[in-house]
Amino acid sequence: MNIGIDIEEVKRFAKYVKDKDYLERIFAKEEISYSILRKNAVQHLAARFAAKEAVWKALSTKNKKLIITDISIQNTKNGKPQVYIKNKQYKKIEVSLSHTKKYVAAVAIAF
Ligand SMILES: CC(C)(COP(=O)(O)OP(=O)(O)OC[C@H]1O[C@@H](n2cnc3c(N)ncnc32)[C@H](O)[C@@H]1OP(=O)(O)O)[C@@H](O)C(=O)NCCC(=O)NCCS
Repeated sequence: MNIGIDIEEVKRFAKYVKDKDYLERIFAKEEISYSILRKNAVQHLAARFAAKEAVWKALSTKNKKLIITDISIQNTKNGKPQVYIKNKQYKKIEVSLSHTKKYVAAVAIAF
């Protein structure tokens, strides 16, 4: 079992919300569409970034070739975040996200 954690400042991501090039370089299209339609779009994007880093930390010893942009987060109908690697659901990991106005955090546990 492995664990990964990340915390990010929301304001770091504010300038990227309307930067299509940046968004498409860092986030999957599902992450962009999930986030930008919501009231707190920046928080959702920042949380996804934190989740990618947490997942990377949890999996980096197992998969040394993994890069941040291989990882994406998609939510179930109930809102639960799930991890995708190269667009395929990766079930041997659990991730949890939380956000406030200033900070977002994510924790990942890989089995
Ligand atoms: C889902 C819930 C736990 C989110 O908690 P919150 O404090 O409002 O918000 P947080 O910032 O900590 O967490 C938000 C993240 O929770 C995650 N989340 C949402 N639904 C989830 C679920 N069913 N299971 C696991 N994680 C969930 C999402 O990743 C979300 O971030 P995202 O939309 O960017 O993906 C909360 O809104 C909720 O519905 N609680 C249960 C209802 C309840 O008992 N309410 C009464 C409380 S007194």
